[in-house]
Amino acid sequence: MSTPDSTQPRKALNLHRLREMQSQGEKITMLTSYDATFARLADEAGVDCLLVGDSLGMVVQGESSTVPVTMEQMVYHTRCVVKGNRTAWVVGDLPFGSYQESREQALRSSVALMQAGAHMVKLEGGGWTAETVHFLTERGIPVCAHLGLTPQSVHALGGYRIQGRDQAGAETMRRHAHELAQAGATMMVLELMPSAVAAQVQSDNPGLITIGIGAGASTSGQVLVLHDMLHVTRGKLPRFVRNFMMEGGSIEDAIRRYVAAVKDGSFPDETIHGY
Ligand code: KIV
Repeated sequence: MSTPDSTQPRKALNLHRLREMQSQGEKITMLTSYDATFARLADEAGVDCLLVGDSLGMVVQGESSTVPVTMEQMVYHTRCVVKGNRTAWVVGDLPFGSYQESREQALRSSVALMQAGAHMVKLEGGGWTAETVHFLTERGIPVCAHLGLTPQSVHALGGYRIQGRDQAGAETMRRHAHELAQAGATMMVLELMPSAVAAQVQSDNPGLITIGIGAGASTSGQVLVLHDMLHVTRGKLPRFVRNFMMEGGSIEDAIRRYVAAVKDGSFPDETIHGY
């Protein structure tokens, strides 16, 4: 495992550098970010990728799911994050209803996020999305796919449950991941699935940058919702979330500890996934 040289000021992250990190076995860190202040803090603490996640519907707006989040809101928060950020790679989430209608609708929505300053867009689901991913990547838009628990489909999935547990589910996940990678997705969030399934997705697609959340330790990197790892989220937290705030004396220290723990492989605990 390789680690970054902390004596050198960090250059802006780009896809080439992220691919290099992945191929050299350096774990990639991602954290959600919704505003300029926390974006600045996370960037300065060494987080590689900031995800302007539609989880902002829950943690910022107090909604019970990500479903009500709109394009206008995602553009607004992306702009805020981009203003605070200096060097991290910024991924903008396409919200529910902004890419399902047609490839053209997905392109319009992606253009809006890229013009707000995102470096890459993220969309949820497999199967039909491969065609959309191909359409976007052919037009110069880097895409992060998202498989496993896809929160925008929470009502269809019957709740926030671990995905790909049985053989058929795991095989479908592997097939979807391969199709998405072939379609041009360079990054993929793997959320809430057995670590063995995430490991298979990674080994099926060696060049794909996989970012896990509740999916074990074998992915190329990890993501957490900022408010969860700071333990300011009220209510029940997923079991895989670690309280970095308790370990650190300040928010910045907590984020630095998260970065260090992902980089040295001590987070996540391989044995914990599920809610
Ligand atoms: O919106 C979000 O924060 C996400 C992460 C949970 C991966 O999609």
